[in-house]
Amino acid sequence: MSKIPFNNFKEEYSSQKKEIDQAVQRVLESGWFILGNETKLFEEEFAKYIGTKYCVGVASGTEAIALSLMAIGIKAGDQVITTNMTAFPTITGIMQAGAVPVVVDIHENSALIKVSEIENKITAKTKAILPVHIYGQSCDMDEIKQIGIKYNIEIIEDCAQSTGTTYKENKTGTFGSCAAFSFYPTKNLGAYGDAGAITTNNKDYYEKLLKLRNYGQGKRYYHDEKGINSRIDELQAAILRSKLKFIDIRNNRRREIAKIYKSELKNIKFIYENPYGKSNYHLFPIKIQDRNLFSDYLNKKGIANLIHYPIPINKQKAFVGQKTEKFTNTEKFTKEILSIPIYPELSEKEINYIIETINEFSLKSSKIKSL
Ligand SMILES: Cc1ncc(COP(=O)(O)O)c(C=O)c1O
Repeated sequence: MSKIPFNNFKEEYSSQKKEIDQAVQRVLESGWFILGNETKLFEEEFAKYIGTKYCVGVASGTEAIALSLMAIGIKAGDQVITTNMTAFPTITGIMQAGAVPVVVDIHENSALIKVSEIENKITAKTKAILPVHIYGQSCDMDEIKQIGIKYNIEIIEDCAQSTGTTYKENKTGTFGSCAAFSFYPTKNLGAYGDAGAITTNNKDYYEKLLKLRNYGQGKRYYHDEKGINSRIDELQAAILRSKLKFIDIRNNRRREIAKIYKSELKNIKFIYENPYGKSNYHLFPIKIQDRNLFSDYLNKKGIANLIHYPIPINKQKAFVGQKTEKFTNTEKFTKEILSIPIYPELSEKEINYIIETINEFSLKSSKIKSL
């Protein structure tokens, strides 16, 4: 068995080569590279797919977060409440907007933000709650929205990992004032470079975002807002348009693989899945005793694996607040978790090899523990 990587972009490209090559060629031949027809069409198609009125293509998921906060009028020193267990760029985006991130512990089994602790963190300076749909599972948006309504605080969703995930009847990205998506290559809908988008149903925010991503420019040479340069480019927009056609098939394949893992892997703890939603299985983290030993074992057996994430946000050097606060669930979680490959191109043979290899370790290690 040759090495099993964590993602397989070459195979993904081969299976969609014709469409993607045509998309790239269309842009090169058009001679138009920034804010053209492909961007406009991608924004329309992505908004339709998610189920919002508007979409604005931007340069990355990080800037989608920063721009969303700028659109709702965040000012320097305003506080934004988010989770202590996320990819650090969630925090980077908050800080880029000039806001102060405030973190909350996670539910110990799902790793999603612990909703019951959000209210404890609300102050007069809180301007937004930013739930992260981590690993592709949805946060409990009804409960979070209720808190937003009660305190008159806006909700911005971090959907970087949750393209195609549902919460009850709707997709993530439809619940907040704005929602930030990442199309970093490893994401379920991945570009061939950096790219991101913001979805919203709010016309005022939409119109402001169109300016904010383009130096604050409304009409050419007229700068109405203090904006930045954060545009999706035509090549990425065209590539994403062709890949968007396959997203549901690909997410469903991830769901099938997750189902197989859950029924075949022994002595492994899975992430608790809330019955209110359908994950897109961006990642498949498992919990196992002797995590570091297990990781070395998988590497030796040629199975790529990663830790999402090894360090709680409040323990990161670049995060200045809440250094001494105790986040029991996050701390425990970051020590136990390990992600195994779940990309749609995995063959049956590779899936079986992953299962057999893991079971060999997990059954043996539990025997050792029980002796
Ligand atoms: C949860 C989360 N938020 C934000 C981001 C930022 O996205 P990007 O890498 O496109 O800036 C990422 C991806 O890295 C992410 O996983």
